[in-house]
Amino acid sequence: MNHNMNDLDKHLKKYKDKEITLEKIRDLCKPGSRIYIGSGCSEPVYITEYLTTQNLTDCDILHYFSLTSQRFFNESDPALFRHNSLSIVNSAKMRDAIAEGKSDYTPIMASDIPKLLKSERYTINIAFIQISPPDQNGYCSLGINIDLNRSIIDVAEITIAQINPLMPRTMGDSFIHINEIDYFIFNKMPLIEYNPPETSEVFHEIARNTAKLIEDGSTLNFGVGKITYLLPQYLKEKQDLAIFSEFLMESIIELIEEGVVNCKKNTYPHCMISFILGTKRFYDFIDNNPFFEFHPTEFITNLLEIAKNKKLCSVYSALSVDLIGQVTNDLPKRLYSGIGAEADFIQGSLLSEGGKSIIAIPSTTESGKSRIVPILMYSPIALRAFEIQYVVTEYGIANLHGKTLRERVLSLIGVAHPKHRKWLLSQAKQANLIYQDQKIPMSEDGTVLNYPQVSWTYDIRGEEKVNVRPIQPIDERAIQELYYSLTPDDRVLRFFTNRRYFSHKLTHYIINSIDYNKQYIIGGFVGKEVGNQRIIAITEYHCNKESDFPELGELAITIHKDYRGKGLGRFLIDTIIKVAKENNIKGLRGDVLKYNKGMIHLLESLPYNVTFIQEIESCSFRFRFDDLKAVKNEP
Ligand SMILES: CC(C)(COP(=O)(O)OP(=O)(O)OC[C@H]1O[C@@H](n2cnc3c(N)ncnc32)[C@H](O)[C@@H]1OP(=O)(O)O)[C@@H](O)C(=O)NCCC(=O)NCCS
Repeated sequence: MNHNMNDLDKHLKKYKDKEITLEKIRDLCKPGSRIYIGSGCSEPVYITEYLTTQNLTDCDILHYFSLTSQRFFNESDPALFRHNSLSIVNSAKMRDAIAEGKSDYTPIMASDIPKLLKSERYTINIAFIQISPPDQNGYCSLGINIDLNRSIIDVAEITIAQINPLMPRTMGDSFIHINEIDYFIFNKMPLIEYNPPETSEVFHEIARNTAKLIEDGSTLNFGVGKITYLLPQYLKEKQDLAIFSEFLMESIIELIEEGVVNCKKNTYPHCMISFILGTKRFYDFIDNNPFFEFHPTEFITNLLEIAKNKKLCSVYSALSVDLIGQVTNDLPKRLYSGIGAEADFIQGSLLSEGGKSIIAIPSTTESGKSRIVPILMYSPIALRAFEIQYVVTEYGIANLHGKTLRERVLSLIGVAHPKHRKWLLSQAKQANLIYQDQKIPMSEDGTVLNYPQVSWTYDIRGEEKVNVRPIQPIDERAIQELYYSLTPDDRVLRFFTNRRYFSHKLTHYIINSIDYNKQYIIGGFVGKEVGNQRIIAITEYHCNKESDFPELGELAITIHKDYRGKGLGRFLIDTIIKVAKENNIKGLRGDVLKYNKGMIHLLESLPYNVTFIQEIESCSFRFRFDDLKAVKNEP
């Protein structure tokens, strides 16, 4: 953007015959013209501001991503302009106009738009774009929006560019020769700026949860939105991230400056993008910066190109997700955001090695309605149930990939707002999506409980990490599998009988009893995939009002045989004791077979005075947290 004005004059002079005035531009916009206007912050405002005051007649205005579309809805005389949004709806005014039938919308995937524009079905009479001034060789940069501009220049009958020295000179497939345009008008004016969206703590929490899914070495792809704007600030501890995204927002700058986004591990050595949204700070950062490669829509949204990226994490927001995992970006009778490049990237992330598709949404609307809904019936489906892997809310992460309908329902109820969970549960039962006796954790008075979002990590001698967290209803199958993996001897140790069945009927009552207070179960999980880990340990306490010791929790523990003798049993007992103390439980009790040396050793080595009462084959034990063993003084 630091152009020497003398050079600039010299370069432009060579092409003087292409210079045009605003009045001549108006004359070229004949009634019935189809006019394409450059997208986002690159809109050639000097031209469009003038034209909207000129009473053009019956012009069809075509936009991809418009930040100023309100200019093109003429309330007094709708015959002057008819606005058509390609793929994306991105302003309240545009939503109103479409809902009221005053504006058009074309549903189409971003990757398909260049083909449509180039097809015989479509004629673009005039295209208005904004570009940087030519260099000594006559090359201008398409600036911060390459998106559809290259296709447009190829197909428009007349291309008119606003040449603006404040348009950043961007790298990549961004250059056109000035001879490729028909006319230009020179004007130095600040570009439109896109200011950071307003956010609240809920969005920060969702961004924090989303960040848990981003592994080192991932390639990021973002959709527009508050959560994706906030996400970079929660990725500062990650390493070797890369970018392959239709667009970028300004909040990425810190990650680049701090070397977190360095593109070292990805297929492409630079940030691959098609346009940016931001303020002058971002424009200055991107100007002449070879770390950013700008590419046209046909490249950046090409499924095969997207799939070449490793660990591509596509993060998009949505309006609603239903209980089987279908996603909509629109309301039942009102288009809200349309399609854009979301479907292209979500599909691409499924093809990418180690890729993840992530939908990150608040659990409720601002007015408190659930955004996780029973079944989407009247809204257009933007993403199908099999395309989404993760749904993230402020209540956690639901991993849907490879999950049955029943598991999807339970996972999604687990991240819904607690005040809507009972309703979702009953709707799912009505649709026979889950067991009719399925319950979710509730307090004694019937209030649905939030699943605690605590977790602990046990590092097995630096070889493997065990993720320890509270059990949820979705874990029922995992618990059954752990019990079925026990040998007959172990079953006797744990249940005092060689129990043969751990059916739903027998297992779900344990989970149904959880209230994360008097009844608590925690599990140890291994495996890399969040939400799809294998359970290898479980420990629990249950307080029984009817027992002789209602203030003590009854303790039980099971470790998978492959993970015994590695300190995990001790870690889990210490953890469940910590949890019990926090819940004001006074101590623990239970029964153990006399020959269960491991368990007895574990109990004896606790810092509490443990009372053992011997019976014929077993002994019962109990200890109180306030009854500590006396510390022996060294001789
Ligand atoms: C009992 C059980 C939970 C222990 O878990 P674990 O992960 O193997 O235990 P850890 O590795 O943390 O070992 C804890 C201590 O017990 C000792 N230990 C473990 N197994 C032992 C055994 N069979 N004999 C003697 N000591 C044993 C360990 O050496 C360790 O001692 P240290 O810390 O003083 O060095 C596990 O064996 C199990 O799941 N058993 C089957 C189910 C069961 O018995 N549940 C209890 C019903 S009440």
